[in-house]
Amino acid sequence: MLSMLLEVVALVLGLVHFAVPLAYFVYLKSYATRAWNSRVDESYRPETTIIVPTYNEARTIEQRLEDIVRQDFPKEKLELILVDSASCDGTLDIAERWIKRHPRMNVKVIRENQRRGKVYALNNALSKVSERTQMVVVTDADCIWRKDALRNAAKYLADPTIGAVTCSIYPVRENGLGASFDKKYRDFNNMVRIAESKSWSTPIAHGPFVSYKRTCLAKLGGIQDKGADDSTPFTLIALNGYRSIQAPDIYVYEMVPRDLKSSLARRLRRAHHLISHFAKMAKRVGSTSSPFKRILGVEIYLHLVNPLLLLTAIILLVSGIVVDLTHALSLPSFWTLMLGGILFVVHRTFRTWILTQFLLIGGGISYLLKGELHIWEPIRTARE
Ligand code: GDD
Ligand code: MN
Repeated sequence: MLSMLLEVVALVLGLVHFAVPLAYFVYLKSYATRAWNSRVDESYRPETTIIVPTYNEARTIEQRLEDIVRQDFPKEKLELILVDSASCDGTLDIAERWIKRHPRMNVKVIRENQRRGKVYALNNALSKVSERTQMVVVTDADCIWRKDALRNAAKYLADPTIGAVTCSIYPVRENGLGASFDKKYRDFNNMVRIAESKSWSTPIAHGPFVSYKRTCLAKLGGIQDKGADDSTPFTLIALNGYRSIQAPDIYVYEMVPRDLKSSLARRLRRAHHLISHFAKMAKRVGSTSSPFKRILGVEIYLHLVNPLLLLTAIILLVSGIVVDLTHALSLPSFWTLMLGGILFVVHRTFRTWILTQFLLIGGGISYLLKGELHIWEPIRTARE
């Protein structure tokens, strides 16, 4: 009797867990192929400041700077701010040599003598952005942009209603452990974020490329020290009445760590930041009347609540078996779990989904235990 009750509750939770995102996905699909309901100006070339925060990026910094120079964008409109937080691997020596070889580039270097984290460094850099700047782009040191990234960001930001634009991410390493997870995860996420953006705005930005109207960032008073350094300001701009969108034609390639341990550590940290971001946004979502409210509401649910339904359902199914162990083989709980296990092994999308749910739960636990996370170890194997 008890095991049947547990089974029924588990079934209902499981059903809700899968049905809500599925319904949302089907709803979004109709947006994915629509045209943009915004004004795109291909010829817009705003005064631009690119901020590159670094902590021990000796392996990547030169390639990052070269990549920026290769952008198909007028160099005289570019200002570059490098903000380094006491790297001890010679990052700044490499950068300074590069700057000497490129005297025509307008580069400011900020040396912090203590590492206080990326958010602190970004705010430091933001206080040095030229008044002329119209577009501020924040980027990680360990990524590669396609040549037209800046140009494409500018063409969307030309629309007065758009306040922030982020990239679509494509993982670099196509083979190796975890790479297939990355690819599936990215394909799925790119589709969802772009569809949300077409419908109005999306609440998630990607650190390798986030561009903002300078005035929108100024209104926020900089980057908050709670939440995520990329998604939180991006979402706050949307809550202020502008649109924050992910563009399909800002291509960014991101290194994927080579080994499972680093890859897991990195995903857990990112999940931690995402949970912290949505926990903060959950307190704000009531205050907006923008069409963004519904999207943000669903995403808060999908990140903070929905994974817990899956976890609870699994715990109940296992408990159902434990309380009626002698009849295990005849219990629907047992066969539901078996079916789940088989699907996990054979079905890549299903596996990616389940892993993502557990990463979010892990991120949530980490957030509850550690609170805001301002400093983290750079992942070596994503930089080789
Ligand atoms: N100045 C400065 N000071 N820069 C830092 C610091 C710091 O204390 N910590 C990290 N950075 C820089 C790194 O050098 C890199 O350029 C960028 O911030 C992102 O850090 P990664 O270590 O590469 O993190 P990731 O690959 O997981 O990045 C993603 O998640 C982060 C949050 O967990 C990105 O989307 C980041 O933008 C995001 O900050
Ligand atoms: Mn990185």
